[in-house]
This record gives sequence, C-alpha cells and structure tokens, in this order.
Amino acid sequence: MQTLTLLNPMDMHLHLREGAMLEGVLPYTAQIFSAAVVMPNLTTPITNTALAKDYQKQILSLCAPSSFKPLMTLFITESLNLQELQEAKKAGIKILKLYPKGATTGSEGGVKEILSDNTLQVFQYAQDLGFILSIHGESNGFSLEREYEFLPIFEHIAQNFPKLQTIIEHLSDARSLDMVEKYPNLYATLTLHHISMSLDDVLGKGLNPHHFCKPILKTKKDQQALLQAALNAHPKVSFGSDSAPHLESAKLTANGAAGIFAAPILLPALATLFEEHNALENLQTFISQRAIENYHLTDFPQKSITLSRKPFVIPERIMTPLGAVIPLWAGKTLNWSL
Ligand code: DOR
Ligand code: ZN
Repeated sequence: MQTLTLLNPMDMHLHLREGAMLEGVLPYTAQIFSAAVVMPNLTTPITNTALAKDYQKQILSLCAPSSFKPLMTLFITESLNLQELQEAKKAGIKILKLYPKGATTGSEGGVKEILSDNTLQVFQYAQDLGFILSIHGESNGFSLEREYEFLPIFEHIAQNFPKLQTIIEHLSDARSLDMVEKYPNLYATLTLHHISMSLDDVLGKGLNPHHFCKPILKTKKDQQALLQAALNAHPKVSFGSDSAPHLESAKLTANGAAGIFAAPILLPALATLFEEHNALENLQTFISQRAIENYHLTDFPQKSITLSRKPFVIPERIMTPLGAVIPLWAGKTLNWSL
C-alpha cells in the first residue's frame, strides 16, 4: 500500500481550550504534531506569564511532554507592560497574540484601538525584546471585507516596526497575500478550511454552521489563491489549523459559535487535497519546514507520522467529557488515513 511519511508536523495556530474540553481535544494534536502554537483566548484570557505557565502545565499534564511541545502565547491587552513582557520572555514565551476587541470568540478583553499610543508602545517593546506578533486581523466592517479593511494596520506595523516579525493569522482574502509579499517582516498562517472551501460551503446549499468561522470563508477566487500558496509551500506562509472546538450545542444555537474543529482530520485531509493537485511532494515543506524557518524553531520533539493511502471515514461526532463536538467534514471519506 502507498504510504506517506511526514516529519515533525507543526500547527502554528491552535485552540485547545481548557479543562474537560482540553482533555477531549488535545490527543488529536499531541499525538500527531511535534509542536503547536496555543492560542490564549480562554474564558479568562492568558494575559500574563503566570497564567501562561499554569496553562502550559495543564496541557503537559495531559500528554507525553517528550513528544509534544505547546508553544505558549500571551493575549495582548492595552495594559501589557515592559516588566510583564520581560517575564514572558524569560519563561520562553515567544509569541504575542493581538485580538481586536470583539472580533471573534474570546476577544472581549482584546484591544479596542490597535494604533493607540499604548498599543504602539507594546509593539515597540515586542520588537525590542524579539517577540513575534500574531494578529487576528479583522475590522468590524462588512463581514466579507473585514480582513481587507484591516490591511492598512498591518502596513502601518510593517513600516514602523521593521524588525517586528508579524503574522497575519488565518489568511482568508487573496489581497492579504500581496501584503505579505510586500513587506519582509510580514508572514502568515493558512488553515485547511480557508484553502479548501468558500462562502458557498457555509450558505450555498442550506446553512452549515460547522463551516462557520472567523474570518468567514470568502470567494472561490480567494480560496484558489490561498490554495496555490499552500500547494507551492509559499516561503512566508506556515500551516496553522485554527482548529477551534465548540460543543455541538453551541454551534447550533441562535448565536452559532464561530470555529471549525479540524484537528482530527488535518493530515489525512491535507494529503488528500495536495494529492488531488499533484503537490504531495510539497506537503512536508508546508506542514513543517516553513514553521521551523519562519518561527526559528530549534528545539522540538522529533516525530515521524506515516499515512496510508486507504479510505478514512471521518467520525460523525467526537465525544469529550463535556459533550459532542462535530469535526470538520463529519461523515465524509478522505483518501488518506493515519
Ligand atoms: O472561528 C474562529 N474561532 N475564529 C477565531 O478567531 C477564534 C476561534 C475560536 O476561538 O473559537
Ligand atoms: Zn484562532
């Protein structure tokens, strides 16, 4: 049987939640990926080093610490100060995550004015201390234009903090790729869902809440451009799943939660997609090498994951101690399995 071996997969954008949900979802990443960037938008956001250390301990207590490295992040608030940043640096935290206030799940404590004096001061410290700045870049405008409307802020940061490595998270709009190419200090992550689906998959044939995420899926043209960047393993783009579990009940209520739980299917789905486009030979670079280069990763568990070219039927639901979570493409069959 045909097999495919991937070394040291890296997920550079991941939501693990906490407590019982963490317990339920962590194995899907920790068994497969060498390292993952763990997002800080918990109910109580990870706004300081003490919280990050606790959270890291919680994660490591639920997996084999020698085989999975959680890369912790700090949630930026307007009051984040130099002392706290120095603490964070000492504790090995390398990434600061900026959420515009109210832009997405768990961002109520985020930053109201991105280019305020306070936030610019945080960027200055971040640059001086060598942090990576990760941003959920969306305005509060018309939903399909939110990422595009945010681009001038990236441009401002890129120009004014040329040594501050800045990540446009989960690219959803083709125009963002142009921005990444224009500035040497701008980088990006790409999700499986944004390279494989468009707005039609959310509302083209009935409403599909399991494909609802932020930033919202865009046009086929956007999807195609982003897919090409992934298939070509664009040098400034790393894989970041943005796997974001919500209970089935939370997805199906009137205020349908934004987030796609992709962790259980990532490698089989990417192998299937890359094979369909005759680009399997670039998957290793996309899934691992770009992250290692772009985030300067030197110390991570070595992992070798072998996939087989045999059908994998995605489970209809995944049970966690809290209740059911529906994985992306539940019930569908992929060409590759773990
Ligand atoms: O769809 C999303 N879900 N986008 C985000 O930015 C956050 C995430 C979540 O935490 O559920
Ligand atoms: Zn996210």
